[in-house]
Parts: sequence; structure tokens; C-alpha cells
Amino acid sequence: MAQKSKILIIGGTGYIGKFILEASAKSGHPTYALVRESTVSDPVKGKLIESFKNSGVTLLYGDLYDHDSLVKAIKKVDVVISTVGHMQLADQVKIIAAIKEAGNVKRFFPSEFGNDVDHVHAVEPAKSAFETKAQIRRAVEAAGIPYTYVPANCFAGYFLPTLMQPGATAPPREKVIILGDGNPKAIFNEEHDIGTYTIKAVDDPRTLNKTLFLRPHKNIYSFNELVALWEKKIGKTLEKIYVPEEQLLKDIQAAPIPINVVLAINHSVFVKGDHTNFEIHPSFGVEASELYPEVKYTTVEEYLDRFV
Ligand SMILES: NC(=O)c1ccc[n+]([C@@H]2O[C@H](COP(=O)([O-])OP(=O)(O)OC[C@H]3O[C@@H](n4cnc5c(N)ncnc54)[C@H](OP(=O)(O)O)[C@@H]3O)[C@@H](O)[C@H]2O)c1
Repeated sequence: MAQKSKILIIGGTGYIGKFILEASAKSGHPTYALVRESTVSDPVKGKLIESFKNSGVTLLYGDLYDHDSLVKAIKKVDVVISTVGHMQLADQVKIIAAIKEAGNVKRFFPSEFGNDVDHVHAVEPAKSAFETKAQIRRAVEAAGIPYTYVPANCFAGYFLPTLMQPGATAPPREKVIILGDGNPKAIFNEEHDIGTYTIKAVDDPRTLNKTLFLRPHKNIYSFNELVALWEKKIGKTLEKIYVPEEQLLKDIQAAPIPINVVLAINHSVFVKGDHTNFEIHPSFGVEASELYPEVKYTTVEEYLDRFV
């Protein structure tokens, strides 16, 4: 059997990065994390980094803005996964430059893990963020770097604990605000599963130069269906307040950062239906639960049980 690729994760101390790093280490890939020296002394992240070491992850000190540190780290591995956050998305051109210089990378996964940015109908400020990710895709392709893109759709932990209710800390029990008419279908994936699917794709020739869509069929729900599922679980009918698209667009314009970003992403997902309003064509994409039917993913139904 071919050896498992060595994986470098840039952004492993971030929200989704830690799940991907954990999946990599668990699956037996020699796993490396590029961490900033300043982060090691952070009380919370320092503990996380300590846990990486205990899982056998090799720490490499470096910074996105220190070219030599990037090249040195990249030369040690076969595959680079970036999970850098919003503020560093455009600066992934620095990772692309370092990968070109290192010359040994078999696969690059840029920071994606949201909507498929080649199929979105977003308004600002989400529009620009999606465009930045699309520009990074084009730069990866222009550089001739082998890639896999992983639009993971909604992180379950970001959306399901409140059922997308603004300012809430728990799912609704009296009334619920539903965006648009509540009919477009969205997709929710649990973070460990995002890690698992991403790592499965690393050495898979079927995902080479493709987008890996995470569309497990039990996790596809419209806003209305999600509310109906929740009502069934708590045995109660909620009062429903529908926010028409026109109103939502006004709310986005009036909202401060970062609420306007969240609202604009919600508009793309729940009003425009950008997770599901296109077919996956084999020329550009494959679907994770079809490729890896052995993965027992957490369903939305199971996830919501935690809050009943
Ligand atoms: N689908 C969804 O629901 C959803 C939700 C949120 C985010 N996302 C997407 O997921 C991706 C990751 O976002 P996230 O929220 O998980 O990110 P995050 O929590 O903000 O983490 C960012 C990571 O980047 C690292 N980083 C920042 N500056 C760096 C530098 N100069 N050099 C090296 N590393 C640096 C951070 O390291 P330090 O620990 O040192 O700061 C951290 O590990 C993004 O593409 C985002 O759009 C999707």
C-alpha cells in the first residue's frame, strides 16, 4: 500500500483547522502544523498546541508573512492544507508562491470550507469574501499546483445551536425568524466530519483537481424543514416570522461588521439557495458521501438532539 502523504496544516489553531488537524493525525498521516511562536504562549491556544503534540503532530514554527519559514515547512511534506481565516484569505498568494518555490507539493487545499465560491449569488460584504476565495482558486490553477477545493457548506456548530436566530445562544422555543420563504435547501456538516472527509480526499486520485462537495443527503434541509424537525423534537409549534428578501437586504446594509457578513452569507445560503441550486458536474466536482460511504457522518437530526 502506498505510504500516507505527509500533511502540513497552516491554520491548525483556528476553528475548523483543529478538526482537520485532528482528523489528519488520527488517520495516520504524518501531520505537521505551522504555528506562530507568539500563539504558543496564548493561554487557550497554547493548550491546544500542547494537545497537538500529544497526538503526534510535529510543530513547525512559522508565519504566513515569513516566506522562508513557509518554504522550509512545505519542503517537509507532500500536501498543504490551509485553514487560515477571513483576514488572511487573500494573502494565501504567499502560500502559492512558497509551494511554487518548494516544488514538491502533490496537493494543495486552500482555505475554503464554506459555500462553493464558483456557484454563489451573494451580495456585499459576502460577495467580496467569496470573490477572494475564487481568485485564490484561479491563482492555484494558473500556478499549475494540484488542488482539491472543499466547500464544506454550513459548519453545524455555527448554525444549528441557534437555528440561525440572531443574537440567540440556544435554539428557539417560542418564535422563530425564517429568512426569505424558507424553501431553498441548505447543507449542514458537523466539524469532525468535515475533517474526516477532507483528509480522505488527500491521497484520493478521484479528488485531484476537483471540488469535493460535502452534500450528505441526511444533512440537506430548507429553513422550513429544519424548523419543522426542531418543532417535532420539542413537541411544540413555534410562531414563525418570515423576513422577505427585500427586508433582509436592507438589514444587511444597515448592520455593522461582522453582523453584515453573517447576514449576507445567510442570504446566499437560505434565500438564494447557493448550497444546492446547481448540479455537481463530474468535470469539476465529486460528492464526499458518495466517495466515502463508509464515513458514518453526524446527521442534523442527531446533532439537534443535543439541544432538546
Ligand atoms: N462554513 C462555515 O460555516 C464557516 C464558518 C467560519 C469560517 N469558515 C471558513 O473556514 C475557513 C477557516 O476559518 P476559521 O474561522 O476556522 O479561521 P480562524 O478560526 O480565524 O483561524 C485562522 C487560523 O489562521 C492562522 N493564522 C492567522 N494569521 C496567520 C499568519 N500570519 N501565519 C500563520 N497562520 C496564521 C491562525 O493562527 P493563530 O492561532 O496563530 O491566530 C488560525 O490558526 C475560512 O475560509 C472561513 O471562510 C466557514
